[in-house]
Amino acid sequence: MSPSRINILLLNGPNLNQLGTREPEIYGSATLAEIVAGLEAEASVAGAELRHVQSNHEGTLVDALQENGEWADGVIINAGALTHTSIALRDAIAGSGLPVVETHISNVHAREEFRHQSMIAGVCVGVIAGFGVRSYHLALQALLDQDL
Ligand code: DQA
Repeated sequence: MSPSRINILLLNGPNLNQLGTREPEIYGSATLAEIVAGLEAEASVAGAELRHVQSNHEGTLVDALQENGEWADGVIINAGALTHTSIALRDAIAGSGLPVVETHISNVHAREEFRHQSMIAGVCVGVIAGFGVRSYHLALQALLDQDL
C-alpha cells in the first residue's frame, strides 16, 4: 500500500453519534458509521487518510485537535450545538493553524435564530451547511482541492 499523502481529521460533536435515529426529518437516516465509511472510501481514492473522533464533550474535541495537530493537514468539523457556544473550540481551531471546514448537515440559517451564530466560523477557512450527508463530502473535496 502506498503511503497516504494527505491526512484529514474528521471531528463530530455532541449528539452526532445518534445520527440515523435523531430527528431524521432534519438529519436524514444515515448513521455516523455509514457517513464515516463513505468519507474513508472517498478519502482513500484521493490518496488521503481519514481519522475520526466523535465526542459529546467539548474538552475531548479540544484534545483531539491538539493531539492531531501535527498529524493533520486539514480538519472537517461538525461541532453540533457547540458551534453556537464554544469559544474553547474556536481557540483550539485558531491555535491549530490548520485549515478547518465548518460543516453542518442541516441549513442552520434556515432554522432557529440561535443556530445562525457560529463561534467557530471566523477561524475556519469556510462553512458548508444544508446539503445533508453530502455536506461532509463537499467539505472533504474543499480540503482536497486546497493545496494542503
Ligand atoms: C448541526 C446543526 C447544529 O445546530 C445542531 O446543534 C447539530 C447538528 C448540523 O449538522 O446540522 O447538532 O451541526
